[in-house]
Amino acid sequence: MQKLEVFGSNKLKGTIDISGSKNASLPILAASLLTNKKIFLRNLPKVKDIETMIDLLRSLGSKIKFKNKELVIDNSKQNKKFASYNLMKTMRAGILVLGPLLAKFRVAKVSLPGGCAIGTRPVDIHLNSLSKLGVKYKIFQGYVHACAPRGLIGSKIRFSKISVGATENLIIAASFAKGTTILNNCAIEPEIKDLVDFLVKLGCDITWTAKRSIKIVGVEEVNETTYSIMFDRIEAGTYLIAAAITESNLKIRNLSPSILKTEIDILRKIGARVIVKKNEIQILGNKNIKSTNIKTAPYPGFPTDLQAQIMVLLCKANNRSYIKEDIFENRFMHVSELNRMGAQISINGNKASISGNIKFAPAELMATDLRASVSLILAALSTKGKSVINRIYHLDRGYEDLEKKLKKVGAKIRRVN
Ligand code: UD1
Repeated sequence: MQKLEVFGSNKLKGTIDISGSKNASLPILAASLLTNKKIFLRNLPKVKDIETMIDLLRSLGSKIKFKNKELVIDNSKQNKKFASYNLMKTMRAGILVLGPLLAKFRVAKVSLPGGCAIGTRPVDIHLNSLSKLGVKYKIFQGYVHACAPRGLIGSKIRFSKISVGATENLIIAASFAKGTTILNNCAIEPEIKDLVDFLVKLGCDITWTAKRSIKIVGVEEVNETTYSIMFDRIEAGTYLIAAAITESNLKIRNLSPSILKTEIDILRKIGARVIVKKNEIQILGNKNIKSTNIKTAPYPGFPTDLQAQIMVLLCKANNRSYIKEDIFENRFMHVSELNRMGAQISINGNKASISGNIKFAPAELMATDLRASVSLILAALSTKGKSVINRIYHLDRGYEDLEKKLKKVGAKIRRVN
């Protein structure tokens, strides 16, 4: 099994280019099932989750090939309605094919999804909301057996809780339903806006009517479309934090800084110097990091996907900090590994109390999920000596060319078998 060896703690300097967003690509790939017209996608990141989603689409009958850095999707002969556990077990976003399959065929059998082990991660909101569009379903032996005998029919839905996945599933499904759907209490992550922009470019009729409300008028046919995926804001946030942790000077490029306002505000508050340009953010880390309290929340709040990374930084703060994880109940699996490096973090329910002024010691470490893996790398980068991170397949799910990008700015990191 591959692992990463990291030799800290040299300062980083240079420019990192941000890849396309994994979390925007996945729903857009799922939404491609809606149409028989060709779709050309640019700026997809080369990461395992995208390969898995492409394998899932191929298993459903999609013809997909890469041509000059563009992914060409041809669903004109796509005819299968069964998404197997094998392809869904590592990737929660697999559930996003349920909406489009029902819109297209009125029937689908889709495995309950897997993904990072960061909480119970139910799909009840997806299913309850789809049932308001006329879907009947039962769960049997780990599969959702669903049908829409009269097709999908527009409706008014208020999500009981803000859910990124359920909002995406319903936007996709309602785009081809009969009549008008109003979705209230939607997640408004930038990746959802990217999905809506893609669908509108395809010819769907979708309008944001209020901050968390969308009106969707179902259409029957759409156009051939070329679309370029937005940047990965979690990758960008990870490298910003990497610079702050290693007291480095990095330019992070190919992004829209306004989308990262919450992260930039927090990095400034705890003492980093952040210079914002049009498509670039320069960050100069500071030796003196101020403690702070953070809670994760749906966008525009602080993202749960950056919680593990910012926790590493707070271990270096001048005082005790607190993090409240408000999205997932079990997303502190990085804590025991960080404590093995010398961190003093204690957990009480969904709250972490983080002692400051920590000097990490190098260690052999185990990655447990995607963002936890990268937090261990950040800790190792800031630690004198050699650390080894095992189980990096988690990392490969979501970070394109991580070692290459870090090496380019001077990190000593290598992959070994
Ligand atoms: C979530 C994160 C997203 C992140 C992704 C991967 C939020 C709001 N969502 O998206 O930013 O990129 O994980 O780490 O930050 N829930 C239910 N029933 C459902 C669906 C969700 O109870 O049917 C609950 C979840 O357990 C969770 C909350 O709602 O507590 C938000 O979940 P949701 O946004 O749907 O999760 P993801 O789409 O995986």
